[in-house]
This record gives sequence, C-alpha cells and structure tokens, in this order.
Amino acid sequence: MYEFSHDWFSSNIPGFSRHLAHLRDKPCTALEIGSYEGRSAVWLLDNILTNEQSRLTCIDIFEQPLLSKNLKSSSGSHKTQFILGASARILKTLPLRFFDFVYIDGFHGQVEVLEDAVLSFRLAKTGAMICFDDYAWNDPKLNRHGTPKIAIDAFLNIYNKKIDIVDVGYQIWIRKKSE
Ligand SMILES: C[S@@+](CC[C@H](N)C(=O)[O-])C[C@H]1O[C@@H](n2cnc3c(N)ncnc32)[C@H](O)[C@@H]1O
Repeated sequence: MYEFSHDWFSSNIPGFSRHLAHLRDKPCTALEIGSYEGRSAVWLLDNILTNEQSRLTCIDIFEQPLLSKNLKSSSGSHKTQFILGASARILKTLPLRFFDFVYIDGFHGQVEVLEDAVLSFRLAKTGAMICFDDYAWNDPKLNRHGTPKIAIDAFLNIYNKKIDIVDVGYQIWIRKKSE
C-alpha cells in the first residue's frame, strides 16, 4: 500500500476528476513537475492514466525515498518515467506538443513557475489541460522568491490568445487553444 508523510493533493481530487475525466481509459500522456512522494502521480495512474498505453513523466529535483515505493505499488508503475533534475533543464529535453496534461507543482518561486509555464506550454498538445498548483498560496514567511500567482498571472496575460482559462480556485486550470 501507499506510504506518505504529507498530503498536498487530496483536496485537489474533485478538480482533477472533473477536468481530466475525458482522458480516463483513453491512451494519453501526462507530465508532472514536482512529484515529491508520488501522491498526485499515483492518483493519476490509478484514476486517469488507466489505458494500457497511457504514460506519465515525472520530474523532480530530489528523489524522495518513498517515491519509487509508491510508484511500484500503483497500478501503473510500468507506465511511468521518473526524471531526476531541475525542471528548467529537463523540460528542454522533452518532446514538443506531446502531452495531454501537464501538472505544474515544482518550485514555487515566481521565476521558476514562469519558466515551467513557458517551457511546458510548448510540450502540451493543442487542447491539452495545464494545471498550476497553489495559485492562491501566499505565506509571508515563505514567499521570499515571490508567489506562483505573480508568475501565473504574467503567463496568462502574455499567452491570453493561446489559452482558455477553465477554472480558477486554489489551483488554476487552463486549456491550450493554439500554438
Ligand atoms: C509540493 S511538492 C509536489 C507534491 C506532489 N505533486 C503531490 O501532490 O504529492 C513539490 C516538489 O517539487 C520539487 N521541486 C522543487 N524545485 C524543483 C525544480 N526546480 N525542478 C523540479 N522539481 C522541483 C520538490 O523536490 C518537491 O518534491
């Protein structure tokens, strides 16, 4: 069974279920930036990436001890590729217009979130869903690198003709409309 020390994901399950329902049981590709212990990754494998041909790519700058154990316990460890490294470097090595879903949940500084957004946009297919975690997060004790919201709002402004904003809450969901 799964083993986790933190839960940053369960409250997001209703949104994930709603916005990714169209991918369930269909061959599809997902990219996760920031996997930690794999809580969101195993949920995706067990609930959305259920088609045998579906694939998940996980990027993290650290490999948490529980990550591989949890991925192995999931229904889809054979569908998963974990890439160790900083997203700013790894995202430049992945195929363009390839992913049906991108989850941006890595480093939460404004520069890093903006860079993840711009690089991920190129990797998403037209019609793909992109979700940013922690859009509404702002803890004055921890925000010396800025907040995701500053970066996400800048990205949404600049890319406004190429995206549809689907849902705004604690997380924000967008759909890539065009290249
Ligand atoms: C909030 S956790 C991810 C939680 C996970 N998505 C979940 O819901 O269970 C953020 C993760 O981003 C990773 N991270 C931080 N900076 C990163 C970077 N520059 N590139 C890739 N991953 C990074 C951290 O190591 C951490 O595991």
